[in-house]
Amino acid sequence: MDSLTLRKTTREDMPSILAIEQASFISPWSVHTFLTILHDRRSYNLTARYDGEIVGYCFSLGMKNMVHLLNLAVRPDFRRRGIARRLLNEIFSFARSHGKSYVFLEVRKSNDTAKRLYASMGFTHVSTWQRYYSDSGEDASIMVKRLDKD
Ligand SMILES: CC(C)(COP(=O)(O)OP(=O)(O)OC[C@H]1O[C@@H](n2cnc3c(N)ncnc32)[C@H](O)[C@@H]1OP(=O)(O)O)[C@@H](O)C(=O)NCCC(=O)NCCS
Repeated sequence: MDSLTLRKTTREDMPSILAIEQASFISPWSVHTFLTILHDRRSYNLTARYDGEIVGYCFSLGMKNMVHLLNLAVRPDFRRRGIARRLLNEIFSFARSHGKSYVFLEVRKSNDTAKRLYASMGFTHVSTWQRYYSDSGEDASIMVKRLDKD
């Protein structure tokens, strides 16, 4: 994936992001939710492009001493090529350069693929939020990565 580039997300990226979102989640975010995050000054949002086409994205929010990873997805036909790993590494660099100590996220208990990805990137499970997801009543696993430990 030499020609993969990462860029800051803009409003113009929304149609491609929404298509990937709908192909990736049982309760996809609305355009309104994406735009609310995009316009939040604390957010740091990236798209991954391959040959000019958007093939993945992540949205995150800087908080006091941590970054909250809010959303991450890769287009189904581009999965398992290291794109999520590239996006996450860029989030870690951003977080470190802004003096943050942790990145945290919530993930569905049943999402073994994502949990494996996060574990491989140094996240550990710290808590379970019961019945966190209102669509299915599923629990969320809260995972944290300490940035000063690498
Ligand atoms: C989870 C997701 C973002 C991973 O994206 P990706 O670009 O395919 O991930 P990568 O190629 O960077 O994978 C990095 C590592 O994660 C793990 N991993 C990723 N996909 C995996 C799979 N299907 N099975 C097992 N391990 C997997 C592996 O350890 C992998 O490293 P390896 O390929 O060297 O073994 C992608 O599957 C996706 O968009 N899923 C739907 C949306 C979603 O669940 N988002 C997360 C919400 S919390």
